[in-house]
Amino acid sequence: MARTFFVGGNFKLNGNKQSIKEIVERMNEAPLAKDVEVVLCPPAPYLDYATSLVTKSQVSIGAQNAYFKAAGAFTGENSVEQIKDCGAKWVILGHSERRTLFGEDDKLIAEKTKFALDQGLGVILCIGETLEEKKAGSTLKVVETQLDAAIEQIKDWTNVVVAYEPVWAIGTGLAATPEDAQDIHAHIREYLAKKVSAEVAEQTRILYGGSANGSNAVTFKDKKDVDGFLVGGASLKPEFVDICNSRN
Ligand code: G3P
Repeated sequence: MARTFFVGGNFKLNGNKQSIKEIVERMNEAPLAKDVEVVLCPPAPYLDYATSLVTKSQVSIGAQNAYFKAAGAFTGENSVEQIKDCGAKWVILGHSERRTLFGEDDKLIAEKTKFALDQGLGVILCIGETLEEKKAGSTLKVVETQLDAAIEQIKDWTNVVVAYEPVWAIGTGLAATPEDAQDIHAHIREYLAKKVSAEVAEQTRILYGGSANGSNAVTFKDKKDVDGFLVGGASLKPEFVDICNSRN
């Protein structure tokens, strides 16, 4: 079965009720290609509000993080059940900002991934190398290692989307070239085929993230292993619609 086009919007720690209302209503009203799946990920306090505004079936809401315990004395964490209770269907896990700013390692991210999947949330699993790792020529080794921890935990890949986000491209305006992204996405797919199965490799959508915008998204159009985008800054702007329609 052909992989559908998937575009995630990671609002990060940005927005308020008014701006989130504008974004969701823009997506409700925008003409979108019928085969694109859009997931908007506002800050946690707005999950329920954002869900209440969505009227288009191909648009859903996701969280930006989730804990690996159902409930309890974990002050400040987001529970998977509470995220689902707000009507959200997805969660971003392993984002480089969670890794660098909040000390999340591959093992913790894999535990979070397993728990979220077991509880019925879709997971957008982020991997990607830093500039130093890229300069050292260890990009492929880094993404393999990040995947290994998740491969150990994930039993069913149906609701997993992988986002390759080179850290040096996030928020810099310097996106990876479509050719480089294709090469690394192809390697990720080959690695999934080797470590999991040919079927999982074929079905799993691999997104590109890192300075994707309304102008450059279309340049990835013919890259067969780029199945969509995970978008930060541009997801807050009207050009996000162009990214969602960049496969038309
Ligand atoms: O999760 C997506 C994000 O890290 C990419 O950010 O602003 O470079 O699109 P940005």
